[in-house]
Amino acid sequence: MSAKPKVVVLPSPPKLSREAATRFQRLASESIAVARRFSVALSGGSTPLALYRLLAEAPLREAIDWSRVHLFWGDERFVPLDHPDSNYGAAREAFVSRVPIPAENVHPIPTEVADPETAATQYEDTLRRFFSLSEGDIPRFDLVLLGLGPEGHTASLFPESAALDEHKRLVVATFVSKLAAWRVTLTPPVLSSARQVMFLVAGPDKAAVLRDVLEGPYDPHRLPAQLVRPPDGDLIWLVDEAAASLLSAGLKGS
Ligand code: 6PG
Repeated sequence: MSAKPKVVVLPSPPKLSREAATRFQRLASESIAVARRFSVALSGGSTPLALYRLLAEAPLREAIDWSRVHLFWGDERFVPLDHPDSNYGAAREAFVSRVPIPAENVHPIPTEVADPETAATQYEDTLRRFFSLSEGDIPRFDLVLLGLGPEGHTASLFPESAALDEHKRLVVATFVSKLAAWRVTLTPPVLSSARQVMFLVAGPDKAAVLRDVLEGPYDPHRLPAQLVRPPDGDLIWLVDEAAASLLSAGLKGS
């Protein structure tokens, strides 16, 4: 890692989710105050679900101006949107269907098209339109939420994947051989272009990989999460004590 990452250690997963939800609301308010909108790329997986549920409850549900929030996804499984594995479906159940966000502000990765490559191309078009991008521009999300897989993947950027070296396209389709499944994912330049990147990592099974990502040698083909290094944005790791258990004392207090 280039700059020393900011790591915030919370005592438990519920406190991690509460901290993340509070930061989400504060970032939304700041972005809306300045730019009249808040664009966020949501993470999949299980860790952020408690955060999502908090966004649909008082006081946060009422504290966020949902008419100004735009939801995107950092990655998606290439399954129908109502499939149990869908990241969109999980977020819709946890909060999207429970907050007054206009339907046109919700931008799922279109997985009900012919094939994953079509989904990636169409989502790239969605990003270009929303962010009014010229050729070669990279979209700058106000917030990108990310998780960390046990082997170091983030979004759907898995070890040794060709997607890790993608520097031109914004969205790619990727076949994950260990899962025998197609995924669609934002590419490293897009994730690193965010104003704020927030990793949420919890549980003892993430302790070794979190230590490797944050304190081990820079080896992004083996640990893709290391690719996310916003040159002009903030990178913060919200972790619980179990996941942080192998980190050095110096890093925990960062
Ligand atoms: C996905 C996610 C993925 C996830 C990690 C951590 O589609 O699964 O984008 O990158 O964040 O695998 O998942 P957990 O939070 O379930 O541990």
